[in-house]
Amino acid sequence: MTPTPSTIPRLVKLPTNGPAAPVVTEPVLEEAPVVAHRQVGPDTWLLTLHAPVVAARVQPGQFAMLTLAREGETAPVLPRPMALYAWDRQAGTVDVMYRVVGDGTRVLATWRVGERMLTVGPVGRGFSLLPAATRVLLLGRGIGTCSLTALAETAAQRDIRVAAVTSARTPETIIGADFYASVGVQDVLAVHDEDGSSDVPRLRPRLAALLAEGGVDQIFVCGAERLLRLGAELGERFDAMVQVSLEAHMACGLGYCHGCSTGYAGLADEAPLVCHDGPVFQVARA
Ligand SMILES: Cc1cc2nc3c(=O)[nH]c(=O)nc-3n(C[C@H](O)[C@H](O)[C@H](O)COP(=O)(O)OP(=O)(O)OC[C@H]3O[C@@H](n4cnc5c(N)ncnc54)[C@H](O)[C@@H]3O)c2cc1C
Ligand code: FES
Repeated sequence: MTPTPSTIPRLVKLPTNGPAAPVVTEPVLEEAPVVAHRQVGPDTWLLTLHAPVVAARVQPGQFAMLTLAREGETAPVLPRPMALYAWDRQAGTVDVMYRVVGDGTRVLATWRVGERMLTVGPVGRGFSLLPAATRVLLLGRGIGTCSLTALAETAAQRDIRVAAVTSARTPETIIGADFYASVGVQDVLAVHDEDGSSDVPRLRPRLAALLAEGGVDQIFVCGAERLLRLGAELGERFDAMVQVSLEAHMACGLGYCHGCSTGYAGLADEAPLVCHDGPVFQVARA
């Protein structure tokens, strides 16, 4: 979700200490060999890199900066930010699911198994799961769902009940539904625009009914402003903390260039950096 000024909820940075503070780890640079790379849907690819230090440190909601120019090549000049969709700490691998949208991702799709990609990660302040959380709701739209998948797995491993909405334009472009089911998400709502099931007026009562019994402690959002508004509304109703992962164009990803400084109207601070202060922010309580 790209932060644009509009009628969105007011956001604040996540705290730096206390139970709601995310675990933040120092990024490292690894020359990560591609161990698998395949197309998994229309314009959508799944890339697996062997990056053992990144895999050991990464927390849900963090991302990596991938240099897509091969050694000796000059383009694309800037690395591209990509969420870490899943990881295997034992195998030392991280997965990135991405959609081909422009020059950089077109080059990314040409990378072959065995090539070594400069990878900086894990970057940013990711999601924080409250120690007392017993039930969470994930709201993802399109490729933005990739920021939520690892969170679902972590929550399920902690025996937290998870409900996840994965929303897309068409049934073919739905992301993560199989992954959610495979990691033990109890309620997977795969919705799309073609049959109107992704419309907020249809989604709202479904979610309200689902959460009516037992409530929800935290709501996590990525990929669409309308889902953020819905998450904030449900957060108010069920007294749940709401966190959202924002997107921005990034040049360095490390807090140096200020290229990702956001003018997001809902952010309380003057100019937080999406890469350094986020990408995850919290909806301020009224
Ligand atoms: C924290 C973070 C995590 C991300 N995770 C993923 C992921 O898991 N999978 C994935 O496919 N993409 C992800 N993205 C978006 C991804 O970085 C961009 O799609 C990619 O950089 C586009 O590069 P490109 O050269 O192919 O496209 P470009 O030629 O740079 O752009 C193509 C089109 O995409 C738009 N665009 C490019 N970058 C962004 C951006 N950051 N936000 C919004 N619009 C953009 C451009 O305005 C243009 O319309 C993430 C971005 C951030 C900030
Ligand atoms: S991308 Fe350079 S400061 Fe965020």
